[in-house]
Amino acid sequence: MSTNEPSSEHAGRTVLVTGAGGGIGGDYVAAFAAAGANVVATDVAGAADAGTALADKVSSAGAGKVVFVTADVTSDADWETVVATAGAEFGGIDALVNNAAIYQGLRTKSPLTELTNESWDRVLTVNVRGTWQAIKAVTPAMRARGGGRIVSISSTVARMGAPGFAHYVASKAAVDGLTRAAARELGADAITVNGVAPGLVSDAASRTLNTGDYIAAAAKGRALGREMTPDDLVGAVMWLASPSSGFVTGQTVVVDGGGVFT
Ligand SMILES: NC(=O)c1ccc[n+]([C@@H]2O[C@H](COP(=O)([O-])OP(=O)(O)OC[C@H]3O[C@@H](n4cnc5c(N)ncnc54)[C@H](O)[C@@H]3O)[C@@H](O)[C@H]2O)c1
Repeated sequence: MSTNEPSSEHAGRTVLVTGAGGGIGGDYVAAFAAAGANVVATDVAGAADAGTALADKVSSAGAGKVVFVTADVTSDADWETVVATAGAEFGGIDALVNNAAIYQGLRTKSPLTELTNESWDRVLTVNVRGTWQAIKAVTPAMRARGGGRIVSISSTVARMGAPGFAHYVASKAAVDGLTRAAARELGADAITVNGVAPGLVSDAASRTLNTGDYIAAAAKGRALGREMTPDDLVGAVMWLASPSSGFVTGQTVVVDGGGVFT
């Protein structure tokens, strides 16, 4: 296989990225494929056109191959299809990046007194139950492989308690707990489970939910004093998905330019 980085640890591995039809998930897909990994990219039907276009574009770049599969993280039937596709196309799964979440889909921020039970349940179901369903679905394939890497995308809001989306904040705190629980349970199978907690990224999703002044204030509050881009996340996610992070598990790494110290 040709790869842009012949010495990459990811060359020839298979990585599954959820929520990869656009947003930051697309950046992870492109980065893994550029490093020579084959990628199964998934997203809901509404993002399928964008996901397929991304898969075609990245695959034609000549390093790893990307296959897009329409799949909802809350559907066990869809997970069966995803895992079967990874097996048929690439022979198994080495790493899973749980990136899918309702974030831009929140559309607006609201005081917790105005959230509906329906919106609470939807956010918790996708962000938490969907992450657990993903881990559940890939575990047998990783066991068959002799190990694996799971990286779940959290958020610094789980530590900061940022106002305006209590259901989302609670969901990301739950993802952190799930990371620890899964790490304990899957360690004996040489499967590591870690999280990456991004700060506020200056992307389309964040601009939907926040004013420019809010994003600028977040940048000012960072040790590194600048806005954050999707590129700033790629290194941490790729390392936790790589063979060389094999003795790190149950951790959630904050990647926010030094905004939150915990
Ligand atoms: N953008 C930020 O500032 C920021 C900060 C911290 C954490 N995060 C997290 O990073 C990840 C990516 O964020 P983003 O900014 O690209 O957000 P986004 O809302 O643009 O992307 C989320 C993706 O998940 C997909 N998705 C939603 N529901 C799904 C479901 N049921 N099944 C499968 N896919 C589903 C969406 O279609 C979308 O492609 C999310 O987990 C988000 O919570 C983002």
